Amino acid sequence: MRIGVPREIKTDEYRVALTPAGAREVVQKGHEVLVETTAGEGSSFPDGDYERAGARIVSVDEVWAQSQLLLKVKEPIESEYPRLREGLVLFTYLHIAADEPLTRALVESRITAVAYETVETDDGRLPLLAPMSEIAGRLAAQAGAYFLEKPLGGRGLLLGGVPGVAPGHVAVIGGGIVGYNAAIIALGLGAHVTVLDRSIDRMRHLDEILSGRVSLVMSSSLQIEESVAAADVVIGAVLIPGARAPKLVTRAMLHEMKPGAVIVDVAIDQGGCFETSRPTTHTNPVYEVDGITHYCVANMPGGVPISSTLALTNATLPYVEAIAEQGLGLAVARDRALARGVNVLEGKITYEAVAEAHGLEFTPLEDVLPLLAA
Ligand SMILES: NC(=O)c1ccc[n+]([C@@H]2O[C@H](COP(=O)([O-])OP(=O)(O)OC[C@H]3O[C@@H](n4cnc5c(N)ncnc54)[C@H](O)[C@@H]3O)[C@@H](O)[C@H]2O)c1
Repeated sequence: MRIGVPREIKTDEYRVALTPAGAREVVQKGHEVLVETTAGEGSSFPDGDYERAGARIVSVDEVWAQSQLLLKVKEPIESEYPRLREGLVLFTYLHIAADEPLTRALVESRITAVAYETVETDDGRLPLLAPMSEIAGRLAAQAGAYFLEKPLGGRGLLLGGVPGVAPGHVAVIGGGIVGYNAAIIALGLGAHVTVLDRSIDRMRHLDEILSGRVSLVMSSSLQIEESVAAADVVIGAVLIPGARAPKLVTRAMLHEMKPGAVIVDVAIDQGGCFETSRPTTHTNPVYEVDGITHYCVANMPGGVPISSTLALTNATLPYVEAIAEQGLGLAVARDRALARGVNVLEGKITYEAVAEAHGLEFTPLEDVLPLLAA
């Protein structure tokens, strides 16, 4: 199969959908890899690394026109719509339930589009979203520690303390993938860590894997109020699948917090779990409300493209290999997790929530798959 990797052109996107190591893996299996010139530069992978891996460096027109399977990181933006075409399989983060123009462009072009974020295992895990949550969680603890520094508007507290000086307190609301990763980095820095969650099973699991090193507290309005008031850093990491994040920390609660404390709202991409949150960017990551620093960067992994590219490719590569080896039809028939990733198949919307969101026709994947396999 001919696999293409274009350069990401969305603002502030420095990741690339395949590393040179990934390119070598698929080339060794007999596939052809076309990489748009400078596609890897933002992640510190020069063209030469791809060439040594056996890939061919091509222009933007060639990569879109000649590929059978196109790997991207972000959804196509408007200037890329004219490049969508029948016969191409696009594999990328899509998020089209919230993007009607792109949904229509995909349908009209009769392309096939597989979304990273809806690849879902039978037990409900999202293997292609998880690596970004891991990165965001780890960054959240780093950002919290950093913005506690006085010249940056913080309290002027060293999160880990030193011998004879007590460490700071970190409260993590939501103990899922983001929350767990935030907790281990905060622990590593030497902070006192409290994790609040609503799932007792999840807290049992955290207790086991963290060997009792964090305080685990049932998330209720009162417990949140108390934990937030005691914290130097509060990390918002809740997720209610398919819904906006609940506003768990009100503006009134900020008044009980320590002046110069830091809020890191990782859940900002789902609307945020603090009443006072609004999305920020890596260029201007923080703002202040009532003496509390707010860090609400909506694409945190974008700040560390080298790590994010490597983590993303590790997760996507097995699926890329399956599609390349077997063709999409067979790969999807053999793997229900990958099947759930198919949002559009030859212009037909095969993901019910997407069709519903835009009032467009839904076609079950089983109905159109036989056509593709043929
Ligand atoms: N800003 C970014 O760059 C970025 C990057 C990755 C993920 N995220 C976001 O981070 C959030 C968390 O993602 P995740 O992968 O950790 O999800 P997850 O499903 O693994 O974890 C969410 C946790 O929240 C808990 N929860 C639900 N309601 C709660 C409540 N009222 N109080 C306390 N806990 C509650 C759940 O029990 C679960 O353990 C999501 O909104 C995700 O989109 C943001």
